[in-house]
Amino acid sequence: MSNSYVLEAKNLGKTYQEGVIETQVFRNIDFRLAAGEKLAIVGASGSGKSTLLHLLAGLDNPSSGEVLLLGEVFSAKSEGKRGKLRNANMGFVYQFHHLLPEFTALDNVLMPLRIRRSNLNEATAKATALLEHVGLGHRLKHKPAELSGGERQRVAIARALITDPACILADEPTGNLDQESAKQVFELLLELNQEFQTAVLIVTHDMQLANRMDRILRLKNGELHAEESAQNPSGQTPA
Ligand SMILES: Nc1ncnc2c1ncn2[C@@H]1O[C@H](COP(=O)(O)OP(=O)(O)O)[C@@H](O)[C@H]1O
Ligand SMILES: [Mg+2]
Repeated sequence: MSNSYVLEAKNLGKTYQEGVIETQVFRNIDFRLAAGEKLAIVGASGSGKSTLLHLLAGLDNPSSGEVLLLGEVFSAKSEGKRGKLRNANMGFVYQFHHLLPEFTALDNVLMPLRIRRSNLNEATAKATALLEHVGLGHRLKHKPAELSGGERQRVAIARALITDPACILADEPTGNLDQESAKQVFELLLELNQEFQTAVLIVTHDMQLANRMDRILRLKNGELHAEESAQNPSGQTPA
């Protein structure tokens, strides 16, 4: 079924249970990420931003409600099916790059296509072109330890984009960078969003960055609310 929403959270809730202790992180979360949209989720540390992104990516199970990916219920599928759908439709960028340390930049970017068993020559050409695109054509053979923090994040972004996903989910992708590198990495995400029409959902502490997105949602006291942004002064959710 085709659908103009890439991701939808419906009445989503998460409670962690450890022994007799229950921690409700959030409840009744409802929002939709439209095709090509740039959405920021902001909130204090511990407000549940990473938990929410993990549920949206199908990396964890909700306690209530559901996640739809391209109009299809995603959260109720088996782990294997979610993995396949994630590989086909989503890119994920973490605060700490999560690159494989033993592999070169090129091999890290190639990895999602290897998992898909794509033609290796075509995949290598695509990964090379994408690394050139993010300004790292001269760093193809470098391993993560031989790259700067900003360069590592650019490799992570190239890896997230190599499968032409409908959306990228980024969990504080600039949180570990100096201000200048953070700005460059963020600009790159915006540029790629424009160019490939990939929807971007970014979790950030940085309101200056959040204000450059189409829409801001704030996670607070277990609830998600629209917040006024520079792009959308009314703070209203598009229909
Ligand atoms: N695996 C877990 N078990 C129990 N509690 C957890 C677990 N993961 C996160 N939490 C709790 O959920 C809350 C939200 O965490 P998190 O999503 O990491 O917040 P944020 O990313 O906004 O900093 C925190 O209070 C945290 O302690
Ligand atoms: Mg977090």
